[in-house]
Amino acid sequence: MTAPTHQALQAADKFQLHPLQNPKTHTDPLVIERGEGVYLYTSDGRKILDAMAGLWNVSAGYGREELAKAAYEQMTKLAFTSNFAGMTNVPSSQLAEKLAGYCYPSLKTTFFTSGGSESNDSAFKIARYHWKRMGKPEKYKIIARRNAYHGITLAATFATGIERYHKMFGPAVPGFVHVAAPYPYRFDMSLVREGESIGHAAARLIEEAILAEGPDTVAAVIAEPVQGVGGVIVPPADYFPRLREICDQFDVLLIADEVITGWGRTGEWFGLKHYGVEPDILTFAKAITSGYQPLGGAQISDAIKDAIESAPEAEMWMHGYTYSGHAAACAVGLANLAIMEREDLAGRSKRLGPYLHAGLSKLLEFPFVGEVRGQGLLCGVEIVTDKETRQPDMALAGRIAKLCLDRGLRTRVVGSTLAFSPPLIITEAEIDRMVETLGAVMDSL
Ligand SMILES: Cc1ncc(COP(=O)(O)O)c(C=O)c1O
Repeated sequence: MTAPTHQALQAADKFQLHPLQNPKTHTDPLVIERGEGVYLYTSDGRKILDAMAGLWNVSAGYGREELAKAAYEQMTKLAFTSNFAGMTNVPSSQLAEKLAGYCYPSLKTTFFTSGGSESNDSAFKIARYHWKRMGKPEKYKIIARRNAYHGITLAATFATGIERYHKMFGPAVPGFVHVAAPYPYRFDMSLVREGESIGHAAARLIEEAILAEGPDTVAAVIAEPVQGVGGVIVPPADYFPRLREICDQFDVLLIADEVITGWGRTGEWFGLKHYGVEPDILTFAKAITSGYQPLGGAQISDAIKDAIESAPEAEMWMHGYTYSGHAAACAVGLANLAIMEREDLAGRSKRLGPYLHAGLSKLLEFPFVGEVRGQGLLCGVEIVTDKETRQPDMALAGRIAKLCLDRGLRTRVVGSTLAFSPPLIITEAEIDRMVETLGAVMDSL
């Protein structure tokens, strides 16, 4: 059988509705046929350095036979079986055991999902369930931050703090409250009190939101350690320690959305490790399998687990997905973690992150590069019309991304920021190529 042509593949694609599709973004889609290492290969013969590791997730890189074999071996034995209470399977039990205390010492129990949105939806339900079991059913609200991205199920959409995701899907799901992000470059300095740091001011806004809503009505705060889709926003170092204290003070659970920051992306295995802080609930997805299978999860503390385990039948945990604990996905998760540990991908991110950051920082000489920021191999280059006014320039950011793609470099525009989140296996020479291509594009403007 002859391989379909590029044109035939594009014609076939007309029958697909894509995420975030509009006519402008999908006129001439790239058809990706193959991946190897940090590179993607298209059906019309192009080679592209994928500086986004897919969607922040292909941390172990493309073309890993070891992961394909893990899937094959598990699928030929048992691809799937119900994982509802009363049954389990080998890889989901083994992965759950492996993850007990792995991300943070106090989180020992995992609820599996197929992705980040499902994980966050589950986290909201876990928080509500927990407070109902504690005899406080009125504690149901979730405080989130602006610029947050938590996914696309209806609840996760309205936990998300980016208006574009809400506009065509209202009315809003009630119970989600947003406050300003800890975004030093764009923080409203009139909100900062005399002698106060931006990190503490941003945390205080959460405290004030809890007080305004009434602490007896707030179930949880959800926060990404680094806000990815909202613009690769790295908070000040004193933000999360203070936020943890506030949550403790008002008996509010802290949900860490580590869908992007988990599994070594920021140079630590998990994002809050940078601050010595632990969440009550952790959500993860993406790089747990390096994207080789859809898998996510929510991890919970012993206190929350006890609330579920001690429930009478009338209050039982009526939540679960067909694919919770999918056998083949969990087998790939185990094999991927083995690779990440063997190749110390978190250590690589810690080592090469500053190298990438230093390379990108050279671009600050351009008048439209407002800020370069990042943590580990997760970096952002914010594009502005003018360094003084810091007016965001989404159109220019889009143009730069398009010109980079024409030269074989894939980045992604998040707000007015170009995001860089390459596979963690990237080499220094490949980082040089990324930075050189971006610099050449900026030079050409
Ligand atoms: C921080 C964060 N949370 C949740 C999600 C949603 O994950 P998914 O697309 O797997 O549902 C994403 C996706 O990019 C994310 O970045």
